[in-house]
Amino acid sequence: MGSEFGPAFIQKPDHRPKPNISDVESIPIIDLSPLFTAPITAGDNTLPIRTLVAEIEAACREVGFFQVINHGVPIELLERVQSAAREFFALPTEEKRRVRRNEENFLGYYDMENTKNVRDWKEVFDFCVNDVMTVPASGEIGETRIQEIWNRWPEYPENMRDACMNYSKAIEDLSFKLLELVAMTLNLPAKRLNGYFKDSISRIRLNHYPPCPSPDLALGVGPHKDQGAFTVLAQDNVSGLDVKRKSDGQWVRVKPVPDSYIINIGDLIQVWSNDKYESTEHRVSLNSDKERFSIPFFFYPAHYTIMKPIGELVTEDNPAKYNEFSWGRFFRSRRSSNFQKMRVENLQI
Ligand code: SIN
Ligand code: FE2
Repeated sequence: MGSEFGPAFIQKPDHRPKPNISDVESIPIIDLSPLFTAPITAGDNTLPIRTLVAEIEAACREVGFFQVINHGVPIELLERVQSAAREFFALPTEEKRRVRRNEENFLGYYDMENTKNVRDWKEVFDFCVNDVMTVPASGEIGETRIQEIWNRWPEYPENMRDACMNYSKAIEDLSFKLLELVAMTLNLPAKRLNGYFKDSISRIRLNHYPPCPSPDLALGVGPHKDQGAFTVLAQDNVSGLDVKRKSDGQWVRVKPVPDSYIINIGDLIQVWSNDKYESTEHRVSLNSDKERFSIPFFFYPAHYTIMKPIGELVTEDNPAKYNEFSWGRFFRSRRSSNFQKMRVENLQI
């Protein structure tokens, strides 16, 4: 990272992490092996699949976060990206800044980002899963121009593009399976939501959190919720992801489980499910002696998707809680203001 610790990184007192956060069974662990032994069928599912759907339904409703094991993604694919990320972040800052994101292209490297007006102690490399994606040119209301955004790959490490693209294909496959399971938890046909992801603008972030001289004052990522359908996160063996538990508002630290992925519900599924599921607040705590790497995959539908509760879930007894909103604009804008505006109850005030 190209900066020294300073006041820009200091969190408000009530956002600072308390020592000794609990990491005991903080989020449910779900075994996906039934997917590979008893594949999802049209309507008439076997007991293992029905049990799996029930577990995911409870985790989405009660926690908004779960970890999956036996997920079918070969460990070597993750290990290759992890080692490319280590090599890339170990390069001199000037070298990393050669693929820095800029006004025209928000993909690539950056080490300056604020969450809720406080700087995150991290450096990041972003890429999209198809090497190119089409997005609205700005997040402005009324925007109709669209723009193509291409991945920017560094010269070194040489295998970075291959490692990243092979990994992203496998994670995308896993995400489609999870999407089918989530659809089933909402009593929808398994493939009901797949079409939205045809021209997906999903992307992957390589995160590096260097050791921080004041982990009691700063955060790797400040408290936030994710915007997309859901996020599929690989963390290494250094813990740091804190989830705000819905039942009592306490922060719990997600204990690393080898070869697992952490899934969390984002705003889009909150809206699709008409608030049956809620996106859960989370943040990243730091260490003074250990660096941490993590790799989130943000599962984003096509930019032209209209974000609104799924028709089949809206009834007289359960009217739509959100007005329609353009997903393309939503993801390019500051989340909180638009999200509040979308709520029917707020519009009526
Ligand atoms: C994030 O939520 O943005 C990052 C999560 C992590 O690094 O564990
Ligand atoms: Fe996040």
